[in-house]
Amino acid sequence: MLPSTKFILGSSLSILTIGLLLSTSPQSWITTSLQNLRPSPPPEPILSTQILTTDPLLLYMHNFISPSEATHLLTLGAPLFTRSLIKNGTVSPSRTSDSCVLPGNDTVVSRIKRRAEHFMGSLAHDGLEAIQLVRYTPGQKVNLHYDWAREPKQDRRGRAYNRLASFFVYLQDECTGGETWFPNVTVAKKFGESVSAGGLQGKVREDGAGGMSVSPSAGSGVFWMNLREDGRGDARTLHAGLPVGEGVKVGMNIWVKKLV
Ligand SMILES: *[C@@H]1O[C@H](CO)[C@@H](O)[C@H](O)[C@H]1NC(C)=O
Ligand SMILES: *[C@@H]1O[C@H](CO)[C@@H](O)[C@H](O)[C@H]1NC(C)=O
Ligand SMILES: *[C@@H]1O[C@H](CO)[C@@H](O)[C@H](O)[C@H]1NC(C)=O
Repeated sequence: MLPSTKFILGSSLSILTIGLLLSTSPQSWITTSLQNLRPSPPPEPILSTQILTTDPLLLYMHNFISPSEATHLLTLGAPLFTRSLIKNGTVSPSRTSDSCVLPGNDTVVSRIKRRAEHFMGSLAHDGLEAIQLVRYTPGQKVNLHYDWAREPKQDRRGRAYNRLASFFVYLQDECTGGETWFPNVTVAKKFGESVSAGGLQGKVREDGAGGMSVSPSAGSGVFWMNLREDGRGDARTLHAGLPVGEGVKVGMNIWVKKLV
């Protein structure tokens, strides 16, 4: 086909003209064509990241999961919640939330785990723990703690490991309070400016009591490194889930394993 012919046939104006000439019912032809041109459903929001601090590495992730994925995970987890435990497997007033482990055989759960793996690029690690959801209702909180442990944990295969990194993503954010507070991270000098410039306004703020606080925002969350280069826990990753005022907050933990 000659390029000029291709061009003419490719032009929607020409097709419309031919269509109008050939069709016995121009009105219906136009209606059908316009239906074909109707925009498809809105695309899923796009994951993007912003650095909050480099030492320790702490990143903000916009749209780590889509609204439909969040809804799916909340439905999957709803019947599974029980009172959260602390590291030694006991109930404690320092962690009053409810939590559950999501089944690994769910397609959305696997997709999100693949996304977390992809996110980490070339970071050497030894897989992920099962995804955990945590739900906070009014007054519920988790006190300051580390995700890493002084004594290594054992995985299902009996291998000793520590938590190299953490993803914490908000699934449900209809609440007051409930911020994730990192009191010991050093906030960048021009934090205020960079926050207003970078789409983080209302999501991350310098905390009057020290460090920074991240507000629940469904689909978004934070990623940080728990261990230093030498494998020891980084004390600066100390963080808390501040008490929820009104409403409900649900978050998702994805912990990254490193065998020790
Ligand atoms: C679990 O840890 C808490 C807090 O450190 C402690 O008070 C409690 O005695 C521990 N329980 C067991 C069974 O180790
Ligand atoms: C996933 O595993 C659970 C038990 O762990 C089981 O009840 C469920 O049927 C499984 N679902 C699929 C889709 O295989
Ligand atoms: C970390 O933050 C906690 C809570 O604000 C504070 O008590 C502690 O002194 C801080 N540690 C360091 C090393 O800044």
